[in-house]
Amino acid sequence: MKQILNIKTQTKEYSIEISDNNFSKLNQEINEATKGQKRLIVISKKVYDLYYNKFDFSEDELFILKDGEKEKNYKNYIKIVNRAAEIGLTRKDVMVALGGGVVGDITGFAASTYMRGIDYIQVPTTLLSMVDSSVGGKTAIDLKEAKNIIGTFYQPKAVFVNINFLKTLDKRQFLSGLGEVLKYAFIEENCGYKTALYLFEFLTLGCEKILQKEPITIIRMIEYCLNLKASVVNQDEKEGGLRKVLNFGHTLAHALETITKYKKYTHGEAVVYGMFFIINWAYKHEYISYSDYRLSMELLEKYGFKPLSKIYSNEKLIEIMKKDKKASDGKITFIIPVSKKRVKEIKLTPQEVYYMLEDGERFTS
Ligand code: GLY
Repeated sequence: MKQILNIKTQTKEYSIEISDNNFSKLNQEINEATKGQKRLIVISKKVYDLYYNKFDFSEDELFILKDGEKEKNYKNYIKIVNRAAEIGLTRKDVMVALGGGVVGDITGFAASTYMRGIDYIQVPTTLLSMVDSSVGGKTAIDLKEAKNIIGTFYQPKAVFVNINFLKTLDKRQFLSGLGEVLKYAFIEENCGYKTALYLFEFLTLGCEKILQKEPITIIRMIEYCLNLKASVVNQDEKEGGLRKVLNFGHTLAHALETITKYKKYTHGEAVVYGMFFIINWAYKHEYISYSDYRLSMELLEKYGFKPLSKIYSNEKLIEIMKKDKKASDGKITFIIPVSKKRVKEIKLTPQEVYYMLEDGERFTS
């Protein structure tokens, strides 16, 4: 089974292939997409250990990156561009990101800055990178002060989403990806893309098959998410407005990831905590109805998610939020729900966020 979606931004058009092709076909597709180009393939260590023998890449064209968000740093970025220079990549050449979001983000950033920008191809191997970070051209590295604080908007040449990688993805990482999938259900009406069945209902009805990784359901689910994402990115590539809705749950999530030095929570886990928090807050402050609040909570709980039980210093979280890219004029941006499928942006002063976090503590388990 194979689905092709198209991204058409102001800067680039490219296609996303979602398939369950076998790895020899994927290998062939990567070779065709990079034909005539010298390549630097940035591959996650886990993916290298599990899948290297499925591809005909030579050792010389590989850069193996250890796993974990803490690897998305400037030291590894310098190593990648150094390696590109050592093997003689020119402006006509290409980088390939073969791994999860960390590999995709850092490779995209390296490709966008090496010789002022060369091609790169995304081959995401985790659910989270398949449904979100490999598409839309956000590239980044982290500083210890803030996540994704250095980066560019730079679209890939192509994206190959192959769901066979999910077979070996561990449960925690799979659920982490589902956190981002659920996010799309809560923002669906903002995205400007309509299907016969809303993602919210699809995820409610399909929960069992999704948790069992049933291939056709997983392909449909990824296709839903990427159609929503493509619609948003096509309208607002550089996050002037609409694209901000993709950050639902992310203001608290980024602060949680930063305060724990990117070691304690996966990105998707942090996003789930951020969503629980903001849905609860929005209900308490009468932005959403009781029934939408309950249905939203039930969807999160259906997938086994629970609110955060650990409490961090509100002052420290606010200090981190103030450094977030989305903060401006001394205010912190939150995307809040106004129904179970629609969100809006609000800006709060640090003092208001303090009260918000104090409120939120009552909603932890
Ligand atoms: N992950 C959010 C975005 O791509 O805008």
